[in-house]
Amino acid sequence: MSTIPRELATGPALRFPEGFLWGAATAAFQVEGSVAADGRVPSIWDTFCARPGAVRGGDTGEPAADHYRRMESDVALMAELGLGAYRFSVAWPRIGTDPSAPNQAGLDFYRRLVDTLLEHGITPWPTLYHWDLPQSLEDRGGWAARETAYRFADYADAVAGALADRVHTWTTLNEPWCTAFAGYASGRHAPGRTEPAAAVAATHHLLLGHGLATQAIRAHGRHTAGITLNLFPVHPADPADPADVEAARRVDGLQNRIFLEPLLRGHYPADVLADLAPYGLGELIGADDLATIAAPLDMLGVNYYRDHHVSGHPDENSGPPSEWVGAEHTSFPARGLPRTDSGWETNPGQLTALLLDLHHRYPGLPLYVTENGAAYPDVVGPDGAVDDHDRVNFLLSHLAAAHEAITRGVDLRGYFYWSLLDNFEWAEGYAKRFGLVHIDYPTQRRTPKLSARQYAAVIRNNGLRT
Ligand code: NOJ
Repeated sequence: MSTIPRELATGPALRFPEGFLWGAATAAFQVEGSVAADGRVPSIWDTFCARPGAVRGGDTGEPAADHYRRMESDVALMAELGLGAYRFSVAWPRIGTDPSAPNQAGLDFYRRLVDTLLEHGITPWPTLYHWDLPQSLEDRGGWAARETAYRFADYADAVAGALADRVHTWTTLNEPWCTAFAGYASGRHAPGRTEPAAAVAATHHLLLGHGLATQAIRAHGRHTAGITLNLFPVHPADPADPADVEAARRVDGLQNRIFLEPLLRGHYPADVLADLAPYGLGELIGADDLATIAAPLDMLGVNYYRDHHVSGHPDENSGPPSEWVGAEHTSFPARGLPRTDSGWETNPGQLTALLLDLHHRYPGLPLYVTENGAAYPDVVGPDGAVDDHDRVNFLLSHLAAAHEAITRGVDLRGYFYWSLLDNFEWAEGYAKRFGLVHIDYPTQRRTPKLSARQYAAVIRNNGLRT
C-alpha cells in the first residue's frame, strides 16, 4: 500500500549521502518510568507532576513507556526498524548528586543500554541533560544558581567515566531554552518558577554548565561533543510594520542568538545584552565564562518543529508572552498552515532555510537534526494497525527538506525522528502522541505505526522515492 503523498512520491529519487546517520530519539523522564527504582532520587519533574493542575490529567512519570524495564526488547525493536543510532538521555536523578559516590545501579542501567545498542549495531547518542534536574539541586537554587553548572560538570565526569570506553558522541544539554524560559519564566515546565531574572540567570548557567561538561567529557579522551538547541526561523508577521520587525528581532535574540553566539563566537549579541540588562545578564558573566562556553563544538544538534511568525502586537490567543522576557507585546498570529495535535503550524520548507542559515553563519560546523516530529491523534484501527498518514506526510516532507539543504551544500550528517515511542509530553502528559511506535499505556503493548514502516523503508534505501 502506498501512502506517500503524491508530491513526495513522484520525481527523482532523493538519496542521502553515504554514512548518513538515521536515528530516533527519546528522553529519560519521558519514557523510562520506574521513578523510584534502584536509588533514583526525585527530580523537579516528579515534584512538578505532583502540583495540582501543572500537568494535564495529573499525569506523572509513571508508567511512561516502561522503558527502564523493557529496554532490551525496545532495542530489539529499534534494530527491526533498522535504526543506525539511538538518541536517549541519561537521568541525572539515577546517578545522584554525590560526585564522590555516583549511584552505580543507575550507571549500570546506561552501561547495559549502551552495550545492548552496540550488540545490535546501533550507535548510542546520549544527552546528559534532558530537563530532569535532581530536586535537591533545585532546592539550592536550581539553574538560577551558578553552583549548578559545576555540579553538572561533576555529573558529566561521572557518566563519561562510566561510558567513555563505549560512547563516542556526547550531547551536553537538550534545548536549554526550554529549561530556562519555560522552567523559570513562564513556569509552564518544572520547576514552575515565574521569575524572569532567574530565567536569564539559568540561561547563562546552562551555557556555562555545557562548557564545563564539555571539558569533563574531553578529559576522558577524544570524544565528539556538542549541544542540542531548539532553533526557529523567525519572521515578522508584517515586514513593513516596525513593531513586528522589532518583536521578531527580540524573539530571534532570546530563542536563537542568545545560545548560538556565545557557543560559536564567544560573546552574547549586543542587542540581547541590552534587552536583558534589566534582568542582570551582564553581571552574571565571570571572567573566563565565555571562553569556557565557546570551546569548539564538534557538532550542533538542531531540534526543528516549526518556525516563528511574530507580531509586535498583543494577542491573548497566541502563546504565553511570559516566556519572552521583556517582550510582553509579542504574539504569534496563525497563518492557516496545517497544524499538528500540539497546535503547531507545520512548515517543512523552513527546515531547509534554518539549516542553510546555520551553514552560512557558522561554516564548517557539522549539523545533525536531533529532533523533528509531530503529535497526531492516532487511533488503533479494528485490525490493530495505526495508520498515521499525517505523520508519514510530516516525516517525508521534512526529510525532503533536509535533503534539499544537503543538496545546497549543508554539512548535515544525520536525522533523528522524535520520538521512537509515544511518551510523556511534559505539561501535556500522555495526551500527545509523537511516537513511531504506539504505546497502549495500560498494557504497554508496542505497535509500530505506518510511519515506523515508512521510516524503516527510508533507512533501508538511504533515501526517498527509491
Ligand atoms: C522537544 C523536547 O526535547 C522533547 O522532550 C519534546 O517531547 C519534544 N520537543 C516535543 O515537544
